[in-house]
Amino acid sequence: MMLLATLDGNLHDPNSPLIRVDDLGVLRGEGVFETLLVVSGQVRDLSEHLARLQVSAHLSDMTTPPIAAWHRGIDAVLTAWREPAEMVLRLTATRGSETGAQPTCFVTGTQVPEKIRQQREGISVLTLDRGHSGAAAATLPWLLTGVKSISYAVNMSALRYARAHGADDALFVGTDGHVLEGATAAVVVARGDTLITPPEDGILPSITVRRLFHHAALDGWTTEESPLTRTDLIAADGVWLVSSVRLLAPVTSIDSGKIRISSDHDRLLGLLRQN
Ligand SMILES: Cc1ncc(COP(=O)(O)O)c(C=O)c1O
Repeated sequence: MMLLATLDGNLHDPNSPLIRVDDLGVLRGEGVFETLLVVSGQVRDLSEHLARLQVSAHLSDMTTPPIAAWHRGIDAVLTAWREPAEMVLRLTATRGSETGAQPTCFVTGTQVPEKIRQQREGISVLTLDRGHSGAAAATLPWLLTGVKSISYAVNMSALRYARAHGADDALFVGTDGHVLEGATAAVVVARGDTLITPPEDGILPSITVRRLFHHAALDGWTTEESPLTRTDLIAADGVWLVSSVRLLAPVTSIDSGKIRISSDHDRLLGLLRQN
């Protein structure tokens, strides 16, 4: 089931075409997006996602409609959604057609894919070289590494490569050996009572990590951003791929070497799920 709305608040048949063939989102993958989790009608971290969408658009030299317009599209999808309790809400803004300056914007609502539900139970990862370091990415803004761009062909290619080599997901590592992020997720490790995530250089700033760290700090955890290597991950008490829809996927193997799921997994998941 898919629901589709435009920012005027109108619902559309998702089986009918909506986008022009000369849209730069179609021709060149130019655009930005956000993926959010809705639980029992409540959108999680909506203002944070809308703010990141605006930042992504700004860094891509694009305009996006005001927040109020996005709310019209989102409300249309939320109102029409019937069961199940969880929904994936996706906000997309492309650069628009070559001849017009207006972005093409739409909102979709779909079920959480079964594969993602399974990954909440455990996930195997393959480390892949990203071809640059996180620190170098800060000097290469045209790579759009901190932007949630619709150009995910490289991320999807990494995912396919990982799957072809027996893993569920890819984990990017910089040329300096520092762990960066998953193909569609951030990384968090537990070391004692400390939760660690890599610095935000050259990666997408994760809203889920921010939410987790906020609640974990209130629960007595220490939280920090520090460089992590593959060896650090293998030695950690727990490793997770973290994202808005997947939530907290415990990593069970790195490059075919098994690692244990942290005994704190359920506690951390409980913290992440709370409002
Ligand atoms: C490349 C990448 N990094 C990190 C994340 C995690 O971001 P968030 O927690 O805001 O969903 C995502 C989520 O889609 C992603 O695609």
